[in-house]
Amino acid sequence: MTKQITTRRSLLGLLTGTMAAIFQPAKAFAAILTPPASRGPFYPDPAMRFDDADNDLVKIEGVVKQAGGEVVFLNGRVLDRQGKPVENARVEIWQCDVNGRYLHTGDRQAIDRDTGFQGFGHFITGADGQYEFRTIMPVSYPGRTPHIHVRVIAGGTEFISQFYIAGNSANNRDFLYNRLANDQRPAVEMVFADKGRGLETQVDIVF
Ligand SMILES: [Fe+2]
Repeated sequence: MTKQITTRRSLLGLLTGTMAAIFQPAKAFAAILTPPASRGPFYPDPAMRFDDADNDLVKIEGVVKQAGGEVVFLNGRVLDRQGKPVENARVEIWQCDVNGRYLHTGDRQAIDRDTGFQGFGHFITGADGQYEFRTIMPVSYPGRTPHIHVRVIAGGTEFISQFYIAGNSANNRDFLYNRLANDQRPAVEMVFADKGRGLETQVDIVF
């Protein structure tokens, strides 16, 4: 008799645990929506891009020279608000080169553009929602902390954000980073670790 009660109790405990597991992700996802950002002044429109606009910004097709800077991998998943992977999402990134110059006619700084850096790239997600880029560690631009711009187009919706290097000392002086609430920041912070092929970071985009 005692044994049966114990078993029922264990079952109940198991059920409660399962219910908690079912309901937990929805709550967790509501808390980690990717904070949006504006497009900014240097989005390379199609006429400014190289013919090669793939997900490897370190190598432009037909150009021998590779990008200067520290090569890194940026990957993650595009997820909807229920945590479901978004297939066929177009993920675009753009950032300034190692010299701090954008692939944009509006960037009038008197510094040479790194001719080996693609400046812009895109990736289309599969069923798992995964995206991946090879690019360079972002560097600072006058008035800005290092960042990578990210734009996602999925199902007719456009979503734009910016990713920052976690722990970078210039973040706290950046006007856009400072607009983010403390609990929003981890969702757009890149934590880099060497997993064998160089530094990489995983940032999910949830919107
Ligand atoms: Fe920027």
